[in-house]
Amino acid sequence: MNQGVRGTRDFYPEDMRLRNWLFDNFTYAALLHGFEEYDAPVLEHEELYTRKQGEEITQQLYNFQDKGDRKVALRPEMTPSLARMVMARAGGLAMPIKWFSIPQCWRYERTQKGRGREHYQWNVDIWGTTEITADAELISVLVTFFEGVGLTAEDLVIRISNRKVLEEVLGSLDIKGDNFAKTCIIVDKMDKLSSNIVEEQLSDLGHDSKTISTIQSILGIKDMADLQNALKGDSMAVSELNFLLNAIESYGMSEWVEFDASVVRGLAYYTGSVFEVHDREGKFRAICGGGRYDKLLSTLGGKDLPATGFGFGDMVIMELLSEKGLMPELLSGIEDIVISLSPELRDIAVMVAASLRDSERMVDLVLENKKMKWAFKHAERIGAKRLVLVGPEEWSRKMVKIKDLETGEESEILVSDI
Ligand code: HAM
Repeated sequence: MNQGVRGTRDFYPEDMRLRNWLFDNFTYAALLHGFEEYDAPVLEHEELYTRKQGEEITQQLYNFQDKGDRKVALRPEMTPSLARMVMARAGGLAMPIKWFSIPQCWRYERTQKGRGREHYQWNVDIWGTTEITADAELISVLVTFFEGVGLTAEDLVIRISNRKVLEEVLGSLDIKGDNFAKTCIIVDKMDKLSSNIVEEQLSDLGHDSKTISTIQSILGIKDMADLQNALKGDSMAVSELNFLLNAIESYGMSEWVEFDASVVRGLAYYTGSVFEVHDREGKFRAICGGGRYDKLLSTLGGKDLPATGFGFGDMVIMELLSEKGLMPELLSGIEDIVISLSPELRDIAVMVAASLRDSERMVDLVLENKKMKWAFKHAERIGAKRLVLVGPEEWSRKMVKIKDLETGEESEILVSDI
């Protein structure tokens, strides 16, 4: 019974230090851009995720009936919870909303490198504005985070496109609504499945071979001039993409970004800009994914509000940082170790520890009778800065000895002066 559920992780203190460090970097990048933090329960009504377009995410739901026979699910993503929260206060929230969160999400996935059955997912979303500058602002949050942890545009690429590219092409062939969303979900799998399987699935959806080859050729475009040629005339997709790329240039982030029509995203609700972050070498799964979803609320029975955002998992990024040698060496944060060198002095050590804590030092009080040698080893292991020794000889003069573990210097201080 010492193993957790398959695909889940334990966080020992050394893992937790790294996780906190990562979350602090997530939080800092969001705060720097004026976002506020929110949270929601991990357990939601199952119907929040009942979408009929055949997305992987809804097939991977951790769902069950609770003791009151309610159908519930562990959230596989945060966006529907956020939508529910926005809807519950419809009209009462000052727009635009700029919120972020770092929820744990659950998906019954095939576990593999970078994908588990639970993960923490940094979510950053803006609601209430159709301005494409909002999409650029999200990219800026990402770039701030990447720079903060030491990654560069040589390590990563943010690939962007727009759902309207495919929407315009398929719309002219009268493929709309659910059928369009289903097509996006299939073509999103192109880099994971063989082209035969993708073609088969597209044909099962009712697309003829001409439509399939049109889709494939459009998705192969990586240049804006080629896209303009392919879509011809007044294309909303082209103008939105141009606007976003220009905004990205104004932010000075162009080196991070590439247009790539094959980015469509595997969730049904996206309506406009879409983007994904990958390592340049293509060794890892997607690091982050997001886009604009202006029509989600009506699918949940509410009145639509424009929205845009991204989700960024904690797993792939940690693997990438470790591969690049960018994982920080983090210590416990404990500053002082207080130890009494005889059992009769334990109360004095308690008092010394309390005084140090009053002056906001992080103190580990040794709780048992231990030898000096042990204390030194312990201090080294946890990276403490000072050892505070309460010994009989010093205490006879109402003093304690302080050893600075960085410089090796020793000094004595009156207990009343601590
Ligand atoms: P998603 O692409 O399904 O989007 O997930 C976003 C990110 O979460 C992925 O790029 C990956 O980093 C991480 N992720 C997803 N599944 C797993 C897993 N099983 N194990 C580890 N990491 C995982 C969404 O979830 C959207 N709701 C994002 C969004 C927010 N769009 C707008 N706002």
